[in-house]
Amino acid sequence: MAILSLRGVSKSFGEGPQRVDAVRDVSLDFERGEMVSLVGPSGSGKSTLLAMVGGLLTPTSGEILVDGVDIARLGARERTRYRRDQVGFVFQGSNMVPFLTARENLLLVAGFGGMDKGALRRRADELLEELDLTHVAGHLATRLSGGERQRVAIARALMRDPALILVDEPTASLNTELGERVVDALAEEVRGRNKACLMVTHDERMAARAGRLIEFRDGRIRHDGSVASDEAARSDRG
Ligand SMILES: Nc1ncnc2c1ncn2[C@@H]1O[C@H](COP(=O)(O)OP(=O)(O)OP(=O)(O)O)[C@@H](O)[C@H]1O
Ligand SMILES: [Mg+2]
Repeated sequence: MAILSLRGVSKSFGEGPQRVDAVRDVSLDFERGEMVSLVGPSGSGKSTLLAMVGGLLTPTSGEILVDGVDIARLGARERTRYRRDQVGFVFQGSNMVPFLTARENLLLVAGFGGMDKGALRRRADELLEELDLTHVAGHLATRLSGGERQRVAIARALMRDPALILVDEPTASLNTELGERVVDALAEEVRGRNKACLMVTHDERMAARAGRLIEFRDGRIRHDGSVASDEAARSDRG
């Protein structure tokens, strides 16, 4: 079964002449182990879609099934638990607690939901290493560079081992080489631990590092295909 299924999902904001149809009748399936890039022009509905999958916004119509359960039908407590345990968010400008170190920001999640402390520390150190942050693990969040802060935000999202990872513009303040390394670390995590990751990006080179690419236009899917087969198709034509 798909880990995530969208069935005829639409989202509108406002009413009458002010109404904006941000997402229009989108149906998609995502399997475990899939790393997917979402691309498309500004305003095409990418962030709105992520917010719905993450349980932050409710669709105007349609269903979002996670492991077969419609998240719109969850009660308030179940929804909170869903967001906490099953979803890892990385948004642009993800907030860090400024007076804690990078490592302490990761361990902060230890306070919620009763995970074993030793296991959390091991996981934090493992992620700090994977994301090339070991040398700044003890630095206060305020002293981290933009790129380091983004990597801490990614590490934090992975701490609880969520089934779904939702990333909005992860690499905006990373140079290309570092950005590619971060995306590769994310992809390895996704494949190795059988998660699904939806990553919004404006950077074509980052987008190409995912296995599948979905292009949005005016709230609809304009294109959906595997990155490798697209490249093959292009070289066939050329
Ligand atoms: N809370 C809201 N209230 C009203 N309109 C909204 C709201 N959130 C988004 N929109 C509108 O919905 C449309 C889709 O916005 P969305 O943020 O999903 O686009 P996006 O593809 O993420 O764009 P970008 O690449 O610029 O981040 C836009 O026209 C936007 O103005
Ligand atoms: Mg956006």
